[in-house]
Amino acid sequence: MNYRYILLLVLFSLTACGERQSTPVTDSVALTIAPSSQSATPISGPIQPLVLPADLNADKVALGRILFHDTRLSGDGTISCASCHAIANYGAENRQVSVGIGGKIGPINAPTVLNSCFNLRQFWDGRAADLTEQAGGPIENPSEMGAKLPEVIAKLRKDGPLNELARRAYGRSIDEKILRDAIAEYERGLVTVDSPFDQFLRGNTHAISNEAKEGWRLFRELGCVSCHQGVNVGGNLFATFGVMGDYFANRPLEKVDYGRFNVTGREEDKFRFKVPSLRNVDKTAPYFHDGRIASLEEAVEIMARTQLGLIISTKDRDAVVVFLKSLTGKLPE
Ligand code: HEC
Ligand code: HEC
Repeated sequence: MNYRYILLLVLFSLTACGERQSTPVTDSVALTIAPSSQSATPISGPIQPLVLPADLNADKVALGRILFHDTRLSGDGTISCASCHAIANYGAENRQVSVGIGGKIGPINAPTVLNSCFNLRQFWDGRAADLTEQAGGPIENPSEMGAKLPEVIAKLRKDGPLNELARRAYGRSIDEKILRDAIAEYERGLVTVDSPFDQFLRGNTHAISNEAKEGWRLFRELGCVSCHQGVNVGGNLFATFGVMGDYFANRPLEKVDYGRFNVTGREEDKFRFKVPSLRNVDKTAPYFHDGRIASLEEAVEIMARTQLGLIISTKDRDAVVVFLKSLTGKLPE
């Protein structure tokens, strides 16, 4: 049986950013999410343009922006969320793995926070259900921000203007729930709209080059789109890294390489990861959960080999890369 075609039947999703799903999300590849009417002009096909959520609360976003950039959220006052997810750097880091408080080296590459609200779950292994749940994690993680939430809240409580903002947005002084919610609301606004490819999807045939169009054709015909699809060109299912070829063959395995298995303990979840979004992927090197691959060209070759069992030609690879570059959108301010 051909794996590609099975996956092509998988799902078409357009989840509204940050909207809680009414039914519990399953891990199964056969997941189906009902299409929503988020976009004024619905676009059919495996990929849909990004749309900024219409219901953002400006006061919550303002508070969340401050907190996201606030080093008081770390144990020694040196690190903020933005230290590892700088917006100017497309919400990711250009180093292999993160370096946290006191120079502690983390085990895994930092994915971008941009457009992350469209992901079905957060983290490579999906251990956080959504952005609100995610936001507390790094603060208390000893190798990231190394703080204690009650102590962080106590510090923030002394900041008059900050609490003024909290009261305006939430009707009370800052607490843990507000901190998580405001950061998540800020992140919901981190959507990179208007990439050349989205303009192309909306009907501007001149928005991308012929080579990019050829790359888009290959992306569909080779089967990349069976995993990287939906509004985020990824982020809406889990898949095994190494369906058709072993990525880990030439190096010792580390705990993080087991992916979703670390969360569920299920044998079939070994080496399964949340399929990453390919939005702005040209700007978020290095690649893969282990951050070991520096170039997009090499990442595409590895994907063709490990996920589709193909040796991709240089010409086709380059066209796919040009297509991927057309997924770079406008940075949120
Ligand atoms: C020391 C670097 C570091 C700091 C500081 C940090 N992060 Fe992260 N972030 C990471 C790494 C590494 C991951 C991936 C961890 C994993 O998947 O196991 C991650 C994952 C995420 C994700 C999941 C994205 C996705 O697509 O799965 C979000 C959202 C996020 N961080 C937001 C935040 C917020 C909000 C803060 C501040 C409260 C923060 N991060 C602080 C390094 C950092
Ligand atoms: C069977 C599902 C599947 C298919 C098919 C697939 N991918 Fe992936 N892709 C993944 C998964 C899972 C990852 C994350 C692997 C990891 O880092 O652990 C990934 C990661 C990537 C990355 C790195 C992104 C980052 O931010 O680190 C790129 C680029 C990529 N894929 C492009 C492609 C291209 C191009 C194709 C077609 C040639 C393709 N993929 C086919 C599942 C798939």
